[in-house]
Amino acid sequence: MPTSFKAILATEEDGKAVARMTEISAGDLPSEGVLIDVAYSGLNYKDGLALNGNLGKVMRSLPMVPGIDLSGTVRESSDPRFVPGDEVVVTGWGLSETEWGGYSQQARVKADFLVKLPAGLDLRQAMAIGTAGFTAMLCVMALEDHGVRKDKPILVTGAAGGVGSVATAILAAGGYQVAASTGRAETHDYLKALGATEILDRSELAQAGRPVDKERWSGVVDTVGSQTLATAIAQVARHGSVAACGLAGGNDLPTTVLPFILRGVNLLGIDSVYCQEEPRGRAWARLAAELPKDKLDSMTDVIPFDELMARSKLILKGQVRGRTVVDLGA
Ligand SMILES: NC(=O)c1ccc[n+]([C@@H]2O[C@H](COP(=O)([O-])OP(=O)(O)OC[C@H]3O[C@@H](n4cnc5c(N)ncnc54)[C@H](OP(=O)(O)O)[C@@H]3O)[C@@H](O)[C@H]2O)c1
Repeated sequence: MPTSFKAILATEEDGKAVARMTEISAGDLPSEGVLIDVAYSGLNYKDGLALNGNLGKVMRSLPMVPGIDLSGTVRESSDPRFVPGDEVVVTGWGLSETEWGGYSQQARVKADFLVKLPAGLDLRQAMAIGTAGFTAMLCVMALEDHGVRKDKPILVTGAAGGVGSVATAILAAGGYQVAASTGRAETHDYLKALGATEILDRSELAQAGRPVDKERWSGVVDTVGSQTLATAIAQVARHGSVAACGLAGGNDLPTTVLPFILRGVNLLGIDSVYCQEEPRGRAWARLAAELPKDKLDSMTDVIPFDELMARSKLILKGQVRGRTVVDLGA
């Protein structure tokens, strides 16, 4: 009899997507790919959407195991690049969209999606970083590729969330001044401990202002979108850049072309899912080297697999601070 293991399986019931903890076996997994003993996964905003009725139609087909990222150890591989015992990380590549994801004690994942665990990180730290932290580093790299300066602060919006917390810590470690925007007063000390030099209440950025306003920021990491992003763009200094990666506050963008044509502001779109091999490897190597481990620990909460469904409801309400790691073995 095949050995079964715990997984969250999303299925369609009465026209609705329902995600439930269940038992499956390796034979139920997709047939193609490397078989991995999953040690940890993460809880990201997109996971909250998938687990709670597949909001935004994150999962394109059902049944599916959700979970947009995972870390673990190779159990079986017919691909010469990986052998049993290799420790690997997967983020993006359509996990929990078109590919079965990480909320399963075993997963079979296409070899092209796997990154060898970067030196200097263990499997738990890799998922403490996870998709959110990887995205934060892609934002920082995009700003730097566009010559971001250090003479004014970099604004991070949704700063107490996963992407925002890692972005704050990396930027501070890199010698940038960081202005952290948050809606939660109780996170101010936390954000200062991560290295924020200035804290803004997010209501300040949620107000529509002039399309080109006082130059406050040399760059922006935006996880919120909507009016917050529009206000941030209006406040960027000449030739500064905005890395836009999220929509926690909405997917609209009520702005004009003026900041782009009068100030030369760069709006940089960040897609972590289909990030190619070279920048992917560079981002992970930088995360391993530059993200201070004590700060990573301070922003991370590790929960057992059984608590995931309950915690996933909180991330949709903006009530999860920093990063949540899901321990698949606990
Ligand atoms: N482009 C990509 O490849 C990529 C990758 C990863 C994530 N993302 C996106 O990035 C965003 C952040 O992801 P995450 O995993 O960091 O999520 P998260 O942990 O839930 O953080 C989002 C933060 O946004 C703020 N926020 C929530 N609702 C808001 C609202 N209505 N108005 C203004 N601010 C609000 C909150 O921060 P405060 O409490 O500090 O205000 C919250 O903690 C999501 O939209 C996610 O889909 C995109």
